[in-house]
Amino acid sequence: MGAQIIDGKAFAGVVREKVAGHVSRLKQVHGVTPGLAVVLVGEDPASQVYVRSKGKQTVETGMNSYEHRLDASTGEGELLDLIAQLNADPAVHGILVQLPLPAHLDEDLVINAIAPEKDVDGFHISNVGLLATGQKAMVPCTPLGCLMMLRDHHGNLSGMNAVVVGRSNIVGKPMAQLLLRDSCTVTIAHSRTKEIEEVTRRADIVVAAVGRPEMVTGDWIRPGATVIDVGINRIDAPEKGQGKTRLVGDCHFESCAEVAGAITPVPGGVGPMTIACLLANTVTACCRMHGLSEPEGLTA
Ligand code: GUN
Repeated sequence: MGAQIIDGKAFAGVVREKVAGHVSRLKQVHGVTPGLAVVLVGEDPASQVYVRSKGKQTVETGMNSYEHRLDASTGEGELLDLIAQLNADPAVHGILVQLPLPAHLDEDLVINAIAPEKDVDGFHISNVGLLATGQKAMVPCTPLGCLMMLRDHHGNLSGMNAVVVGRSNIVGKPMAQLLLRDSCTVTIAHSRTKEIEEVTRRADIVVAAVGRPEMVTGDWIRPGATVIDVGINRIDAPEKGQGKTRLVGDCHFESCAEVAGAITPVPGGVGPMTIACLLANTVTACCRMHGLSEPEGLTA
């Protein structure tokens, strides 16, 4: 293996320490404690794990965590009422509605009901537009985490060829916008892209966010390129015993690591950065709401 491993777990720890420092200053100097409200509708097991982890890390960095767990049968009106209440609550600086929502709820309607300045996921249509036009936005957590790692590894990204594989609203599109804002030459590749390996082989930076286990293999990667693997896929692992599984990314780690200059592992790469950036966004939202300067090192 030739590639340097980009340690997202360690980097997330650094981000959390910065967050905790800003939180402490906000409390001591300004008498404000940032607060994050997380809304979970239903009992999706993966969502429950994420929400628990978010709440724990929010409290660990000194912020207030408000969890709202609603029954899977909750109606749209009730959910919108809760969001209106959180929008109006001055103790709440960030609001996150865990996705996916049960099928009877309209995700776009619900997300767009969140006050844009409290939308720490950066999914509200106003934040999407602000990011696309280069204005001050709340930036989606996963792409923000990827950007932080890329800036940390490369310094300046200006002029680099970046290929984002995947065009989701949550990762692919905002990732492309952020790379463009850092003056990369950006290509978005997706399931219909012709000769996709040739496209990715021209990249200095490949960000894989397709949700397909180990799709990107070493022959897709230019020697020395940086590979950011956003995928988290659970696959069968019969070698570990019957019924056992293991986590893999959207990149085939071993073959990509042979060729790449640097690569994020799964687990321990992008994943831990996502929650760290959620905490960072909550501090950013709090500072903006109180007319304070942007928290250094935590924004895009
Ligand atoms: N479900 C999976 N990832 C996310 C995320 O980043 N934000 C929200 N709100 N829900 C998710």
